[in-house]
Amino acid sequence: PVLVVDFGAQYAQLIARRVREAGVYSEIVPHTASAAEIAAKNPVGIILSGGPSSVYEPGAPSLDAGVFDLGVPTLGICYGFQVMAQALGGEVANTGLREYGATDAAVTGDGGVLLAGQPVEQNVWMSHGDQVSRAPEGFTVLASTSATPVAAFGSDERRFYGVQWHPEVKHSDYGQRVIENFLHTAAGLPADWNSGNVIAEQVEKIRAQVGSARVICGLSGGVDSAVAAALVQRAVGEQLVCVFVDHGLLRKNEREQVETDYVAATGVRLVTVDAADTFLAALDGVSDPEQKRKIIGREFIRTFEQAAAALVAEAESSGEPVKFLVQGTLYPDVVESGGGTGTANIKSHHNVGGLPDDLEFELVEPLRTLFKDEVRAIGRELGLPEVIVGRQPFPGPGLGIRIVGSVTRERLEILRDADAIAREELTRAGLDGEIWQCPVVLLADVRSVGVQGDGRTYGHPIVLRPVSSEDAMTADWTRLPYDVLSRISNRITNEVRDVNRVVLDVTSKPPGTIEWE
Ligand code: XMP
Repeated sequence: PVLVVDFGAQYAQLIARRVREAGVYSEIVPHTASAAEIAAKNPVGIILSGGPSSVYEPGAPSLDAGVFDLGVPTLGICYGFQVMAQALGGEVANTGLREYGATDAAVTGDGGVLLAGQPVEQNVWMSHGDQVSRAPEGFTVLASTSATPVAAFGSDERRFYGVQWHPEVKHSDYGQRVIENFLHTAAGLPADWNSGNVIAEQVEKIRAQVGSARVICGLSGGVDSAVAAALVQRAVGEQLVCVFVDHGLLRKNEREQVETDYVAATGVRLVTVDAADTFLAALDGVSDPEQKRKIIGREFIRTFEQAAAALVAEAESSGEPVKFLVQGTLYPDVVESGGGTGTANIKSHHNVGGLPDDLEFELVEPLRTLFKDEVRAIGRELGLPEVIVGRQPFPGPGLGIRIVGSVTRERLEILRDADAIAREELTRAGLDGEIWQCPVVLLADVRSVGVQGDGRTYGHPIVLRPVSSEDAMTADWTRLPYDVLSRISNRITNEVRDVNRVVLDVTSKPPGTIEWE
């Protein structure tokens, strides 16, 4: 792989994605990895990421200098560029000049391998205080800006390059070209990593891991479990059985989409557990959000375990025991759980597949190396229905945490209808690509006075919460066109009983979370 060395900002994942977009497989390693550990991964290229620190700060993240003796083509970005300069005998200075945001850069000479064939004047995205004041010996300066004379350098002989700006962000005009030039020209790597190859590779791996044993998988209706199960089905066919728990908190048609469209597309063996009554009974009269989350999580595990136990018993009698459980773990979870320090518990998240440790299954995690957009691409390649592959995030506890107040069948009906209208109109307006997700929330404990026809109404408000986000950690409310909002509002108040008002949530995250509960 190409290794992206993480110096502690959020940039490493973005760089890893851009490398893969260029058709080259990449992985992230912490900057604390030793040269030997890095060498053991057989890197074909190394990229040093940006980071929030100054190389002069005490305790600033550093890199084992032996990494520069591995003979591997290396690209330093921002902080990584400065680390490289310092390690190779150049100089980094704190000039007190800060460059932030869109900046004009000028390519020097022919731009070397890195900037070859690019316009002399280009817009790049900067974010730095320190700067490289002198390039190491044997390096050529490849670009400069008015504040930063050494904005890029390179040595074709050693195949080491660096840029002060962030080529991985879309605001850098030729950013992706810089990454491609490094990968394809400087490091000589072909663009041969794509969905088709990933599928073939994973299918082989799954077969080797599973052998002739049986496998079970919990389907949530979301993208990750759907794609993970489809891969396993492709690899071992009927050895896989999927369990889909209908907790009664799903959106309109979701169960049908899984039972009909998904099964038709993949051929997976599916067992649906109809557990709506149990969940609703357990939720009866509960309106505290955390309590709801805990109850739904607990009931989910209980239901899944019962279904799994039945399948295990059935398999046992057939002589091929169930040994494996499929999980749709993605690469960001793997990276983040590697270095994560304690964060405040804002909400107790529950994920389908977030099962207790005492389940005696080995895990099959075919998406462990993949980012979300790659999972979607693979799902499409596997022929999964677009309603599932293109689905926006939906929380495990479902509509249960989108009813402010206690959860009842009637309230779920109301919310389901309102949600379906909002989704339909957003899709019709072509806005699905612009929004990250749009929770629709029923304020079941609030009533307001309205007028419909000749009569007074006393109904509930529906909240629309459209948000734009990169990763759900932060979000902004999406500026939806007024005419779309107006159509959604008219339809919901006309078509959904007991709703006489539609309001728009215009809060960013933070301070608001995306979901209301
Ligand atoms: P918040 O509300 O914390 O949501 O801003 C961030 C993202 O996580 C989703 N979410 C969940 N996903 N299980 C999940 O699988 C959960 O319990 C859960 N709660 C929130 C939410 O939809 C948003 O995408």
